[in-house]
Amino acid sequence: MANESAAAARKKLYLETVGCQMNMLDSEIVAAKLRDEGYDLTQDVNAADAVFYNTCSVRQHAEDKTYSALGRIKRLKERNPGVAIGVLGCMAQKDQATILKRAPHVDLVVGPGQIDRIPELLAAAKSGNPPAIAVSKSRRDGTLEVIASSFTVYDPDREPSLRPTPFQAFIRVMMGCDKFCTYCVVPSVRGPEQSREPEAIVAEARMLVDQGVREITLLGQTVNSYQKRSADGRITRLSDILERVQAVPGIERVKFVTNFPNDMSQDLLQAVRDFPKISRSIHVPAQSGCDQILKRMKRMYTASFYEEMLARARETIPGVAISSDFIVGFCGEDEAAFERTMGLVERGRFKNSFIFKYSTRLGTKADAIYADDVPDDVKKRRNNELLALQTRISLEDNQRFVGREVEVLVEGPSRSTARREGWEGVSQLVGRTSCDRITAFAGELELVGRFVRVRVEGASAVTLFGRVETPLASAW
Ligand code: SAH
Ligand code: SF4
Ligand code: F3S
Repeated sequence: MANESAAAARKKLYLETVGCQMNMLDSEIVAAKLRDEGYDLTQDVNAADAVFYNTCSVRQHAEDKTYSALGRIKRLKERNPGVAIGVLGCMAQKDQATILKRAPHVDLVVGPGQIDRIPELLAAAKSGNPPAIAVSKSRRDGTLEVIASSFTVYDPDREPSLRPTPFQAFIRVMMGCDKFCTYCVVPSVRGPEQSREPEAIVAEARMLVDQGVREITLLGQTVNSYQKRSADGRITRLSDILERVQAVPGIERVKFVTNFPNDMSQDLLQAVRDFPKISRSIHVPAQSGCDQILKRMKRMYTASFYEEMLARARETIPGVAISSDFIVGFCGEDEAAFERTMGLVERGRFKNSFIFKYSTRLGTKADAIYADDVPDDVKKRRNNELLALQTRISLEDNQRFVGREVEVLVEGPSRSTARREGWEGVSQLVGRTSCDRITAFAGELELVGRFVRVRVEGASAVTLFGRVETPLASAW
């Protein structure tokens, strides 16, 4: 039996993940599946029996990172041909056989819709078979066939050590995406939108609480498009899921990412307003402030619709923080179009924005029909300008907190090197307010996982700095 021999000699898995939270969650699932086959995680790539890269294709930069990692690993494979090299995730689905051409030392190429099959594929690779490619097939309508069974059964089995912290975990509420924004590779690598059964989501939240988790982030490429019809015809929406998950005993905070502007319904905003355990922060990417560009992107809304949605969210939820994503230098973006995006960021008062230079992706509609006509130095300049504007706004908004007391769920020791005068030698802890503001303060590690009241004494564009006033009751 595989498990008996595995118990005799445990093997080692080195697993590197790039990309979004979906990929981080997939890595937890892969690690758990291989743990059952006798593999423990290692940080030392040279000691590994299997080296896996869970990859991202959203921008060229993400792919370059993986190809250079594959280049570095070649020597290891030459020294130790027994080590199995795997490329998983979105790049595996997108590039398929090209990966084996560019990196012939790779043994497995496994798309995100096929990770259920990894144990079987790894065993085959270990027996010296030729390299295997397991990717989802394209249907006639261009969508992908993913293993549907894996979606309902495999999520609960996870590797807890890969979580952001022991008390924070992701739950996938849906996978795939049906929006087909013209610049984006995600629908063609992750397949069509599929919402999970509400009962499976709530059961997973309960299981995670039993493992010590107190904060859940619900994941979906367009999480607020979640919809599941039950046998009796009743429709469950994201607002219903949020209500049910926040009611699970032991849960202290619930977040959800990423939202699509058109699906920001009133019932969802009201759920965020009415349930204090739901984080008062909404990530809802705008991508551009110019209607013509939004049309070319096929985002299906106008800039003024987006701004009205922002106003509605703020009116409904006092104190809500809103964050966004923007792409600069999309095909046809002239200075006037870019200025409209600057205007939206100026008026939008986002807590923060992620800003990306447009990266043309093979297989997308934009790549097929528009010229990537904004030179890279212009993309760079626009990126810097938009970032400088957003940073100024983030700083102004954070400074409004100075002198106030905020309630913070403590996440752990601060990774940041920011040390304020006089704080050396004292542990720096970091946590977040309900409106997702990172807050750093001095305190003992025993506060991790608890709520504390912090008096804010200073602020940068990304962090509030303060002193603990009163530790509140233990969160667990
Ligand atoms: N599903 C999410 C985000 C997916 S990708 C959503 O719809 O909001 C995360 C971000 O990467 C996007 O919001 C977009 O800003 C950026 N992005 C996606 N494709 C890109 C591309 N080809 N070039 C540059 N940025 C891109
Ligand atoms: Fe990509 Fe658009 Fe889907 Fe987001 S909504 S994953 S940007 S296609
Ligand atoms: Fe990247 Fe795939 Fe996520 S392309 S952003 S890892 S869905």
